[in-house]
Amino acid sequence: MYNTIIVEIARRIACVTINRPDKLNALNAQAKTELKQAFEIIKNDSSVDVVILTGSGEKAFVAGTDIKELTELDTESGKDFSEDGQAVFNLIENLGKPVVAAVNGYALGGGAELALACHIRIASENAKFGQPEVNLGIIPGYGGTQRLARLVGKGRAMELILTGDQIDAQEAYRIGLVNKVVPQAELMKTAEVVAQKILSKGQLAIRFALKAVNMTAETNLTDGQALEASLFGLCCGTEDFKEGTKAFLEKRPKSAILKNLQHFQMQNIKTPACVVQAENAQHTTYPDTRHRDTGKRATFNLSRRKAAGLKKRATYNI
Ligand code: COA
Repeated sequence: MYNTIIVEIARRIACVTINRPDKLNALNAQAKTELKQAFEIIKNDSSVDVVILTGSGEKAFVAGTDIKELTELDTESGKDFSEDGQAVFNLIENLGKPVVAAVNGYALGGGAELALACHIRIASENAKFGQPEVNLGIIPGYGGTQRLARLVGKGRAMELILTGDQIDAQEAYRIGLVNKVVPQAELMKTAEVVAQKILSKGQLAIRFALKAVNMTAETNLTDGQALEASLFGLCCGTEDFKEGTKAFLEKRPKSAILKNLQHFQMQNIKTPACVVQAENAQHTTYPDTRHRDTGKRATFNLSRRKAAGLKKRATYNI
């Protein structure tokens, strides 16, 4: 199906591998198109709850955008090129499912930006990070100027982007660019352990957490907290929450309910219109949240609203 990437799905984890090892997995147009296709499918695939993204071989995660293709750009096509790449990386960041980058070597230019679009980054000891675009007379164009500064701070981002210097995995860890550094041989196993840990949690909470934390890049504290409160409220209406808290207090393992919530899938998570709608709601039905086996909609009881005698049924559009 794909020529430049490999997609393998097992035990609710999709592993996406960029597969151009002879070009150090440089992202050419085809690889970007295939990544977009693959992530669109994964977004809607209810059998996948976590993604691991890596590069083929032991030398490179992605050594950047394909420089050969860059040479064809002019002012107009360069802008389109940047916007197209940004759209693919935005799709990854807003997938609604956690994406773990297993950075197995060079992550330069578009490769570093690709890792930045993921939610968690684990690096092998030989990994190297850098934004060498200025060496080519350009700037990072796939979101790097924005995401790098947000992740490691403006000063460090400026240094990396203005000098084009590469940093090793330990330095990337020190400045908060990666979450963990492990030997190359343990990289995929470590990424899988992280993925499994996420899978063992209530998936509704995982997806709400992704949404809320992603919003920090887009909103002010007041609006971000409004969204947080609404999502927190939705979590409190779930069996997942009831069982999780009850099990803790009764000092026993959680029952399968927590795992069952994996079966709820959500799509089209948008902005916090729910805050207003919830004011008059007794119950709310999340429109795109359905039980995978029964197809039944997930209904969240808003007991506080019920107690207040509010009857209107509302639909959350988050
Ligand atoms: N675009 C296109 N081809 C690339 C590439 C890129 N970003 N990065 C590496 N390649 C290709 C090389 O051209 C070479 O192809 P060839 O065998 O057909 O000549 C192959 O991958 C191996 O790369 P090579 O440079 O020989 O490996 P190296 O170990 O000597 O150096 C790097 C590794 C990563 C330091 C070096 O390849 C490099 O600097 N790449 C470009 C990084 C960059 O500027 N990225 C940002 C682009 S915006």
